[in-house]
Amino acid sequence: MGEDFAGRAGLVTGAGSGIGRAAALKFASEGAKVVIADVDVDGSEATKAMIDQIGGEAICVRTDVSQAEEVAAMVEQTVAAYGRLDFAFNNAGIAGDIVPLIDYSEELWDRVIGINLKGVWLCMKYEIKQMLAQSQAHGGGGAIVNTASVMGLISSASNPVAYTASKHGVIGITKNAALAYAASGIRVNAVCPGYIVTPLVEGILERHPERKAQIMADHPVGRLGVPEEISEAAVWLCSDAASFVNGTAMTVDGGYVAH
Ligand SMILES: NC(=O)c1ccc[n+]([C@@H]2O[C@H](COP(=O)([O-])OP(=O)(O)OC[C@H]3O[C@@H](n4cnc5c(N)ncnc54)[C@H](O)[C@@H]3O)[C@@H](O)[C@H]2O)c1
Repeated sequence: MGEDFAGRAGLVTGAGSGIGRAAALKFASEGAKVVIADVDVDGSEATKAMIDQIGGEAICVRTDVSQAEEVAAMVEQTVAAYGRLDFAFNNAGIAGDIVPLIDYSEELWDRVIGINLKGVWLCMKYEIKQMLAQSQAHGGGGAIVNTASVMGLISSASNPVAYTASKHGVIGITKNAALAYAASGIRVNAVCPGYIVTPLVEGILERHPERKAQIMADHPVGRLGVPEEISEAAVWLCSDAASFVNGTAMTVDGGYVAH
């Protein structure tokens, strides 16, 4: 176990699977107390079991990030359990069905935007309130990382319209929050993964096997990423090593957007 986060507490949304799980494990392995926030209770419990196994400290708080009262409760329960909120990785998200723009339904648009974009705003709203309160009390502050995507910087003809919109939006609100709260000692950044092998991407490849060759070709390194390659970036962005990094959208994509 490392010590970079010893004595610190934070939360990871979408920590019941994929990138969020890898990040929760990495934070815990660096000594942080971690709240695993996800709608998937079984997935969350599985992440907690992994953290228990490495001697880390974590609790699960079932949270739907698209619901304000649940997000508020997530932050309240973090503070009730661990006394403070030093960092947050707002990572929960869904791909939504891959449907052409002209066939995309309003219902799907609202669902994807509700989780991927409104959810990140709600998380920041309640997290930053808490960080401001503790910053006044202890001269602290905090660090927030939001999961965007390469689809927050560019798009592709086949990328679902609401997903592209949500991830571009995440980068926008990341910059907004970074500027608004920099003077209060709160840093806010985004991470932009390329395609990472998680259940989200496995689902896309299963439903659309014809897309696999193109997706591979879009990554100059010749492979997809693994969740740990994103969690390394997220944990670093939350750490003191990144103390001068604020308002950035960091690509971790094997060169995807360098084309
Ligand atoms: N895998 C990729 O290639 C890739 C690429 C770019 C960005 N991303 C983004 O990374 C993030 C994590 O994706 P992943 O690939 O690990 O997917 P995943 O499906 O493995 O994990 C996502 C987790 O989010 C949870 N979740 C879904 N809706 C939720 C809600 N309303 N409230 C709380 N939790 C919710 C799910 O239960 C799941 O545990 C997402 O924001 C995704 O858009 C993924």
